[in-house]
Amino acid sequence: MNGINKIPKEKINEIKNSVDIVDVISSYIPLTTSGKNYFGVCPFHDDTNPSMSVSREKQIYTCFSCGASGTVFNFIMDYENVNFIQALKMCADIGGIDLNINSIKIKDDTKYKELYDMYEIACKLYQNNINTQYGSLAKKYLLDRKIDQKIIKDFKIGLALNNYDLLAKLLIKKGYNEPFLTDSGLVVKKNLDYYDSFFDRIIFPIEDVNGKIVGFSGRIYKDDPNKKEAKYKNTKETKIFKKGQVLYNYRIAKEEARKEGYVIIMEGFMDLFRAYQIGVKNVVISMGTAVTKEQASLLKRMAKDIILCFDGDSAGEKASYACANELLELGITPKIVRLEENLDPDEYILKYGKEKFLEKIKNPLNIMEFKLNYLKNNKNLDSEIDMSKYINEVLDEVKKIDDDILLELTLRKLSNETKLDIDFLKSKLNKKEKNKNEQKTKVEKKNNNMYIKAEQNLLYYMLISTEVIKMYQKKVAYMPTDNYRKLAREINYFYKENGYINVSDLMIVLNDNIELLNTIKEINMLNLKENYTVEEIEDYIKIIKQFNIEDESKRLKELMIMEIDPVKKAEIAQKILEIKKLENEIGEDE
Ligand code: UTP
Ligand code: MN
Repeated sequence: MNGINKIPKEKINEIKNSVDIVDVISSYIPLTTSGKNYFGVCPFHDDTNPSMSVSREKQIYTCFSCGASGTVFNFIMDYENVNFIQALKMCADIGGIDLNINSIKIKDDTKYKELYDMYEIACKLYQNNINTQYGSLAKKYLLDRKIDQKIIKDFKIGLALNNYDLLAKLLIKKGYNEPFLTDSGLVVKKNLDYYDSFFDRIIFPIEDVNGKIVGFSGRIYKDDPNKKEAKYKNTKETKIFKKGQVLYNYRIAKEEARKEGYVIIMEGFMDLFRAYQIGVKNVVISMGTAVTKEQASLLKRMAKDIILCFDGDSAGEKASYACANELLELGITPKIVRLEENLDPDEYILKYGKEKFLEKIKNPLNIMEFKLNYLKNNKNLDSEIDMSKYINEVLDEVKKIDDDILLELTLRKLSNETKLDIDFLKSKLNKKEKNKNEQKTKVEKKNNNMYIKAEQNLLYYMLISTEVIKMYQKKVAYMPTDNYRKLAREINYFYKENGYINVSDLMIVLNDNIELLNTIKEINMLNLKENYTVEEIEDYIKIIKQFNIEDESKRLKELMIMEIDPVKKAEIAQKILEIKKLENEIGEDE
């Protein structure tokens, strides 16, 4: 939670207490009530069931399907894609609390204020250039490509003139010096001169997720066979520009995607402008590079459905495959549009028009249809070698799919294509699954252990009851699992400091301790019944103690075997006996 340390804890609590999470969330998504809790369709993953519960008592939300969980601030941050300070401000507004955000915000931004300001200045200069007589050739280029005045304006398209130090002079005149000049990436220093990095290129300003201009992409617009320049040039990585963390057109697409329920990802600027022109505005572009984890997780939050509409050529197909797999890793199953005749979306729309393009978008391939096609590339299915390779590859892909129906449909298709019996394909798939599971079992076995369950349940009730915290302090005081022990310690500490327990307040205190916040999410997801009995709690404690004792006696036995000194050996044996006694005592309690 960036910026949290700049605001007093009391203020944060005051703001949190001034709103009710149920009211706030229900202003975003419809909630229905059942018992003490409220339920809604989780906006953070693809769902139609009301998997998200909102607790008035705990002032948290938890999605039992995707695991999203947090306080009212987390909800706003994720839903609105804003930072902590902004979410805090929004809550303060709702709750009628006075929060002087400006003093905080300026503090927050001052670090890179110069860079942001320089980008604004450069953007204005470039925008102005394209409308002057020196910009007529560039303007003509855009108009020839049917990029009209509205697009030029909406996307703040500009021009870096073939006047190498115009921008540098302006920046220096405005008082910017080193190291800002060089650090900005706007100009490059050669000998004593500063050259415009985008010299003689059409400029596309790039905004970060907060809508601030943080970089540019510049395209050549004169066909000069003597020059071997890259078609597009991008701002180098700077303090404020990380290409892998932005999605071009994010601000507009975010709004549109929410309305439409899906977001389209394309590759290039021209594709996006063309789609925009025909009213398809829920589009972002990857700007030609592979989609990063950060970008994928931004996409995930934009809409339930993600449609890849890359170039129609084989490079575009390969990029679709890579991007689809990146998204699958994040639990998103995208749909894919493939355009014929190697056309990119720009060319396709120009050639076939709006209606045909919309038809493509409305009828995307599901991920397995796409992958079956993709895996057939460069294979001759009449050859048995290629055929067997194909089947294995498809089955490997099928394993990644979480959707039973899609799995069945895909196997049927594969069976049709290969003339192999579907039961045979299923048994082959099961064999593969088994191998995969065998590697996993070690981990899973541990997770299924009784003591882990006991730790989790105990933590669940410690998070809502001081009575349980006290029982834990008195009787266990040690959880075997690292993360659980750490969380228990934090709960104890919170209780000691504040005299009460409340999971949402604890989450705020934990601030950006991602590890523990994730542990809390895991515990929240258990969704146990509200009421516990003292006997149940005692049972959990007993199981944990038993485990600790067995663990300790195992450790001691190993120690004894290693020990050579007979006196020490006897000491260890004595300890083991004592522990055995403890174990029996716990058993007798029953
Ligand atoms: P494309 O070559 O498909 O560009 O590259 P485009 O948008 O269709 O452009 P036109 O139609 O040729 O004018 C897709 C994207 O990859 C990035 C750009 O963001 C481009 O829009 N790219 C491409 C670069 O960053 N550098 C390059 O040299 C080329
Ligand atoms: Mn293209």
